[in-house]
Amino acid sequence: MAKRIILAIETSCDETSAAVVEKNGAVARIQSNIVASQVALHAKTGGVVPEVAAREHIRPIIPTIERALHNAKTTLQNIDALAVTVGPGLHTALAVGVETAKTLSYTLGKSLVAVNHLHGHIAANWNGRTPVLPALALIVSGGHTQLVLVGRNNRMKLLGQTRDDAAGECFDKVAKLLGLGYPGGPAVSKLAERGNPQAVDLPRPMLNRKNLDFSFSGLKTSVRYLVDKDPLLTKEGTPRQRRAGAVFPHARGGMSRALSRDRGVGDLCASVQRAIIDVLVEKTLRAARQYRPKEILLAGGVAANSELRLRLNAATKQLSWKPSYHMPPLELCTDNAGMIGLTAAYLPQKTKQTAWKMTDIQPTLSI
Ligand code: KG4
Ligand code: ZN
Repeated sequence: MAKRIILAIETSCDETSAAVVEKNGAVARIQSNIVASQVALHAKTGGVVPEVAAREHIRPIIPTIERALHNAKTTLQNIDALAVTVGPGLHTALAVGVETAKTLSYTLGKSLVAVNHLHGHIAANWNGRTPVLPALALIVSGGHTQLVLVGRNNRMKLLGQTRDDAAGECFDKVAKLLGLGYPGGPAVSKLAERGNPQAVDLPRPMLNRKNLDFSFSGLKTSVRYLVDKDPLLTKEGTPRQRRAGAVFPHARGGMSRALSRDRGVGDLCASVQRAIIDVLVEKTLRAARQYRPKEILLAGGVAANSELRLRLNAATKQLSWKPSYHMPPLELCTDNAGMIGLTAAYLPQKTKQTAWKMTDIQPTLSI
């Protein structure tokens, strides 16, 4: 099979990214992957403002593409096809990447592949190796929590998903309640390292239901309830409270005990993280036992969470038929164009020929 070079573009949320992916025979590999992040900008508003995100894609998009080509030691003329995220994502943010890709496709006369962002998160696991199917993927990102079975020809079957908040959204909302800034996942997991995951008794929503669905909004509500009772857990706790140490009333064992903000927040972060991961791991094992995949894949921004990485790895070792377990390296967990190029490279041939005319944004695209 001939060599094929793909230029991929991703602008679905708050990262402007371009990548060059090369497919040689049955194996696709990322050659360069440039990400211009808007995180610092959105930290000021405590979350992504869609219009601001869209505007901020316009300035860096061409320099990002140039760098991706330069780092891969190739040129626009050398590429065989373009790939772009068409959804799901923010309307105007997606439009910047899609219109750029369409213009390049039109002027260069090269084909353009429309890529589903969620397929991209899964494909981040296939950099430099051929997929072994069927595979079971747990996608955990800011907008999605899904269990997906990837069958032959990369056909996707949605097995279960969150009924309300996504796991990443839960991390982000808890961080906001605790005044830890945006994005919340990395902040919560960092503080969790110093906390006791059994300190606070929190619900494990849907854990005992037989289905493969999730629900995380109740967990966030439990944290809000704790924070309302104990303002010291927020940055706004009064100086007097800070000096005295707060009474943290929900410590396991029923005994109230005094905790400083740091200790209280660390324990709460560790307990929230443990509750989220317990449910994610248990449901993934349940899906695996039902469908007996050859590979188990962790995907999405929350896949960067070190406790989740370790726990899911350990859990899958218990499975009797020994499926292989994969998780992307950290830089491929959060949004990036490399995973979009990998998706285009591994797609069945006939869907590769999407003409630029046909490509439009699909903000609510599902798996
Ligand atoms: O996949 P992604 O980059 O964007 C979406 O497609 O949503 O995921 C972003 C999400 C955010 O909710 C962020 O807080 C979460 O991934 N995240 C983490 C960690 N790193 C990023 N959550 C938990 N632990 C982390 N280390
Ligand atoms: Zn994403």
